[in-house]
Amino acid sequence: MIDWLIASIPLFKIVHIAALVVWCGGLLTLPLMLARHNPNGLADDYRIVRKATHITYTLCVTPAAVIAVIAGTWLIFLREAFVPWLFAKLVFVALLVVAHAWIGHIVVKIAEEPDDHRPPRPIFPLFAVLIPVIAVLTLVLAKPAFDGITFPDWLLEPRGGQLPFEVPS
Ligand code: HEM
Repeated sequence: MIDWLIASIPLFKIVHIAALVVWCGGLLTLPLMLARHNPNGLADDYRIVRKATHITYTLCVTPAAVIAVIAGTWLIFLREAFVPWLFAKLVFVALLVVAHAWIGHIVVKIAEEPDDHRPPRPIFPLFAVLIPVIAVLTLVLAKPAFDGITFPDWLLEPRGGQLPFEVPS
């Protein structure tokens, strides 16, 4: 691989880790901020919670998630990390994205239905975030070999199949 691309790996890692600190930290903070929402409270208090959660979600947490995923995707190719722990990690990253979307849904519901909508107890979204984060960190730091898992040949070798239509050579 080109030398300067290899030299850029630490840079991608810094960006990846910095972005995921903001992403995961934000996802852990938002449920606690949302728990401050009280439908019977003062309009001013409501405005503060609504604005703070909206800005945190749209301007910090979501852009950080996008940056973390883009930098992580580059790292797959730069580190040539086509290995089982990476695929297992991506399963838990997908769960983290689901938790991200759920918290976004709560932020929107509180903005649109301030009188009717009560946020869930923070423990539920906190666990929805913490479980995948701990699993991802365990996988990426321990990098287990998963030697016990064997894949069938048809998953490991090109099958030489033809596409059902003509492709330009
Ligand atoms: C689509 C999302 C993601 C992709 C594609 C991705 C991919 C990668 C890749 C390929 C590496 C380099 C591994 C190596 O150098 O051996 C890496 C490093 C790392 N990732 Fe991710 N990652 C993603 C999301 C996350 C998340 C959500 C977390 C934590 C919650 C995380 C934590 C880390 C850490 C701590 C490292 C540094 C590990 C080391 O250098 O040994 N990643 N990531």
